[in-house]
Amino acid sequence: MEEARPVKNSQTTITELMVPSYANFGGKIHGGILLSLMDKVAYACSAKHAGTYCVTVSVDKVEFLQPVEVGELVSMHGSVNYVGRTSLVVGIRVEALNVKTGLIKHTNSSFFTMVAKGDDEKPTVVPKLILETKEDVKRFIEAMRVREIKAAVKEQMDDAHSSIEVDNATELLKNERCILKFK
Ligand SMILES: CC(C)(COP(=O)(O)OP(=O)(O)OC[C@H]1O[C@@H](n2cnc3c(N)ncnc32)[C@H](O)[C@@H]1OP(=O)(O)O)[C@@H](O)C(=O)NCCC(=O)NCCS
Repeated sequence: MEEARPVKNSQTTITELMVPSYANFGGKIHGGILLSLMDKVAYACSAKHAGTYCVTVSVDKVEFLQPVEVGELVSMHGSVNYVGRTSLVVGIRVEALNVKTGLIKHTNSSFFTMVAKGDDEKPTVVPKLILETKEDVKRFIEAMRVREIKAAVKEQMDDAHSSIEVDNATELLKNERCILKFK
């Protein structure tokens, strides 16, 4: 494993023009196009930091707060917020620029968890992260907290999946917008 590396060494921005082929039937940019670009930025940041191939393991907080239009220039700013032993959390801020008006919209901020892989395809230890600014420290602690919350929620979700009793469905679903038709 390499020496520790500062956050700024792996910060990456990708800017791309939103062309008509990226649009959905409503004329706005497909969410999937934006997700694919975000995944590339997450890869670039994590691979630069780790110095190895990285894979996406999970994505948090995907909310498209405002639509993106054809003709806008979308910039994705990525930064490694946190490193664990073999995983890295990359925060990505997405902004869309209307070149005519100069207006910049913040459309979303998402968090990609990436895992570094060694030549044997197994997770490999990543360099420590050097935190040089208060913002770096804030983001690292934030990611630590989210990691703890996710671990707790995962336990609850596993429990929710395993403890479903279909026999009680009539009572459980009485206020829901569904119709039970099974016997
Ligand atoms: C990512 C992957 C290597 C993890 O394998 P694993 O057997 O769970 O490995 P480990 O238990 O050693 O976990 C490795 C790291 O991933 C993290 N991790 C595993 N599952 C995770 C999840 N669902 N969310 C967040 N982090 C996760 C672990 O916390 C650990 O991090 P740490 O070393 O910093 O503590 C494996 O699931 C994989 O290869 N997935 C496919 C990834 C891929 O192909 N992505 C492309 C999109 S299809």
